[in-house]
Amino acid sequence: MGTLTPIDAHARSTRHSTISPAILYFGSQVSLLSTVDDEGHPNLAPNSSVWWLGQTAVLGVAARSQTGRNLIANGEAVINLPSVDHVDAVDRLALTTGRNPVPERKAGAGYRHVRDKFAAAGLRPLASETVAPPRVAEFPVHLEGRVVAIHPMGGAESPAEASLLAVELGITRVHVVESLRMAGHANRIDPVRWRPLMMNFQRFFGLGGEAQPSRLASIDEEWYRG
Ligand SMILES: Cc1cc2nc3c(=O)[nH]c(=O)nc-3n(C[C@H](O)[C@H](O)[C@H](O)COP(=O)(O)O)c2cc1C
Repeated sequence: MGTLTPIDAHARSTRHSTISPAILYFGSQVSLLSTVDDEGHPNLAPNSSVWWLGQTAVLGVAARSQTGRNLIANGEAVINLPSVDHVDAVDRLALTTGRNPVPERKAGAGYRHVRDKFAAAGLRPLASETVAPPRVAEFPVHLEGRVVAIHPMGGAESPAEASLLAVELGITRVHVVESLRMAGHANRIDPVRWRPLMMNFQRFFGLGGEAQPSRLASIDEEWYRG
């Protein structure tokens, strides 16, 4: 075997293969969604499909999860954001569902029914101010919200027929611990102090440090309110 020339080595390191991954979880933020059922009983479920535009959060939720059912039934939720330090509490809720009995496919993958998710995770419920579902007292950020629209995914006619839902949640109140607030600003989070928990192909990660100065960050955050 001859020695690789720099050009060969470059070609090898940038060569792409066509693959068919079963999941496309390339890294996104983890939250615990709290919702309530028809009787007001709270449920808590890990989620890693949220993105934000303006004052709206868009959530990806399985329609037949207890969370999906609760959102369809009464349209209220709290997005509770853990920091990377709360990973253990989130992990304790993995492979659990508020559904009873556990749907067959989930039971086959090792899921079990848990009625009191707060107790199972070792977390305390805290009353919300604008919606019925409680917040997670220990987590540093809570976003209370109401459903604005539910989009059935995959061409389904209605949420009831869909297996996946894209749920638009209009944020009605934001709570944040003092230690995350940016000094000298009434309404800003300090991104250096905020350490979100990320899911990357089913595994948990934190963020690395700041990569480099951001040109976008030259825009004052208040500009986005318009
Ligand atoms: C870290 C993590 C991230 C998850 N992300 C999502 C998600 O984005 N959307 C979703 O529907 N389920 C997601 N799940 C799976 C749900 O939590 C799971 O279906 C759970 O049984 C839902 O609970 P529920 O039936 O009580 O609502 C995730 C699970 C974990 C542990």
